[in-house]
Amino acid sequence: MERTLRVFRFNPETGQEPHYDTFTIEVEDSWTVLDALNEIKWHHDGSLSYRRSCRHGICGSCAMMVNGKNEATCEKPLSALKGTITVEPLKSFPVIKDLMVDQEDFFEKLRLVKPWLINHKAPPTDKERLQSPEDRKIIDGTWECILCGACTSSCPAFWDNQGFLGPAALLKAFRYVGDTRDEGLDERVGILDSKIGVWRCHTIFNCVEACPKSLNPTAAIVKLRRRLIQEKL
Ligand code: SF4
Ligand code: FES
Repeated sequence: MERTLRVFRFNPETGQEPHYDTFTIEVEDSWTVLDALNEIKWHHDGSLSYRRSCRHGICGSCAMMVNGKNEATCEKPLSALKGTITVEPLKSFPVIKDLMVDQEDFFEKLRLVKPWLINHKAPPTDKERLQSPEDRKIIDGTWECILCGACTSSCPAFWDNQGFLGPAALLKAFRYVGDTRDEGLDERVGILDSKIGVWRCHTIFNCVEACPKSLNPTAAIVKLRRRLIQEKL
């Protein structure tokens, strides 16, 4: 079976304007968009650049816009898409080359929320820091994030102000703030309560629609707001 892909191209080293190249290739029924990009790179145009690693929806490398919607391309079957498939880099991230975006700022925002367990008490020597199944459930829907950037790229508040931490970093912040073993809210409150923090979200829910893991960063942001208000009271 043949499928046609219209692929965004940009190479800052050539001086050529950004444009789209069209490839019509032989595909198999079971292929994903990433498989099709691999076919193009390996057999049609080796200069095509994009990120990928695990091919199993785990590493978060392969997020791109497919027909205008953010997707983990390794999890998007070609069979779910009709007609010509347009593949573009994530919106609002600087493009390095073709479909590959610069993620440095995205990961810097993540570092700002201190995405690690903060607890200055020494852990037990004979077991892990345990928590009840009920406490553990509080952070369900946060630890599954693969840091693909699809949510932040789809966020109008981020488009408007790229200083905003964005939904991915805030979801990760709640992963730790919501963890009953964590005592680090004091260390995170300065950034979460700042002008680039939780209050900049306009609850537009684009992030929820964009997330390839069906997570809800908006809900996490609302929970962070509640925690900050409780702290102030
Ligand atoms: Fe990707 Fe979803 Fe995590 Fe955002 S919340 S970075 S869209 S996995
Ligand atoms: Fe790892 Fe797609 S290649 S999530």
